[in-house]
Amino acid sequence: MNILLVGSGGREHAIAWKIAQSKKVNNLYIAPGNAGTAQVGTNVPLKVTDFAAIKEFVLKSGIDMIVVGPEVPLVEGIYDYFKNDESLSKIPVIGPSKAGAELEGSKDFAKAFMMRHNIPTARYKSISKNNLSEGIAFLEELEAPYVLKADGLAAGKGVLILQDLNEAKEELSNMLNGMFGDASKTVVIEEFLSGIECSVFVMTDGKSYKVLPVAKDYKRIGVGDSGLNTGGMGSVSPVSFADATFMQKVNERIIIPTIKGLAAEKIDYKGFIFLGLINVKGEPVVIEYNVRMGDPETESVMLRIKSDFVDLLQGVADQNLDTKELVEDPRYAVSVMLVAGGYPGDYEKGKIITRLEEVKGSILFHAGTAVSNGNIVTNGGRVIAISSYGETKEEALAQSFTNAQLIEYEGKYFRSDIGFDL
Ligand code: AMP
Ligand code: GLY
Repeated sequence: MNILLVGSGGREHAIAWKIAQSKKVNNLYIAPGNAGTAQVGTNVPLKVTDFAAIKEFVLKSGIDMIVVGPEVPLVEGIYDYFKNDESLSKIPVIGPSKAGAELEGSKDFAKAFMMRHNIPTARYKSISKNNLSEGIAFLEELEAPYVLKADGLAAGKGVLILQDLNEAKEELSNMLNGMFGDASKTVVIEEFLSGIECSVFVMTDGKSYKVLPVAKDYKRIGVGDSGLNTGGMGSVSPVSFADATFMQKVNERIIIPTIKGLAAEKIDYKGFIFLGLINVKGEPVVIEYNVRMGDPETESVMLRIKSDFVDLLQGVADQNLDTKELVEDPRYAVSVMLVAGGYPGDYEKGKIITRLEEVKGSILFHAGTAVSNGNIVTNGGRVIAISSYGETKEEALAQSFTNAQLIEYEGKYFRSDIGFDL
């Protein structure tokens, strides 16, 4: 079969790497892809939200399945666009409908959904300019720190955690006044939860589901998880505290009610559900839903899936996922992200990357790279994820760190403490 994967980051390179290993695949295209995805498939220069251009390519190239990497095309309704077009409706899109994508596209929707289905999450109130005084009163009721979340998509930047009540009140007003544009016209105020986080990825065909290997990501730029938030500086899988007891609670209290809730609300959902969980004294609580795989978790998770990933994707599309087998690799997998100097603040692009061919014992997933005059150059804040296997977490990390030191480009930075807290 011919597959089109939509997206261009490290997550997409990891998914493309896994898809390309399947005997079921004739041609793999990635739109728009990056210098790494070009090594395992064919890049096609299409914008991920230009559905008309994607349609034209899909029809011209005999595409049999579309796999969507990032959230934006899902929230903008790529699934519905294909489903409602006669010439496209038989071509499955792996990813939720626009209504399902609201689990990520609107935090207010996600919180209300969890309330309706009794899914454990932090206490909250949704505030807009009309009920600002309720927001102020709710903040006064809570204890520091205060969590403010823009309702809509804000490229991972829409969450503020503040220590001071007055500052929280001020930032609430700033958010409602357009700090994150339309995304913060509504703000979700949440009770702060304290615990350690992990990412659980569920593949669902709308009826049954499979839980992929659990991972943890490291969001902040600095050692010890300090400094500014980033898109993610590394990941590890498995996660020691996500043991059988914890995962049984996740299944019973979160995954099953989520899938049943979507079905009960007649929301089409054939794709990935990403549960951002926090472990509060052994009890899993949902911090957020995403409607796609995580980045850089995918750069570890794909290494831990032994089964043919395309077979699983077909199970999602054909709604017979329950007949498919998901076999996990028992080894550890980790991923260390090389980023550009200055990231997540201002940084330069176009730095020539060298010594990639000397890398041994790791798999490189390109995040922000491009080819320029025959050189591979940096083309984003997050540049390359270095993924490795190990019999232990330490062994896998040592392998990734060795290669992180080896690869060269001006301004290179990586976190040397990925996995430190597990
Ligand atoms: P989100 O975009 O919802 O994933 O939030 C970004 C990060 O903020 C999360 O990964 C958590 O580390 C933190 N966070 C969000 N909500 C809460 C909460 N209610 N309590 C504590 N930390 C939170
Ligand atoms: N790693 C977190 C995310 O993909 O949103």
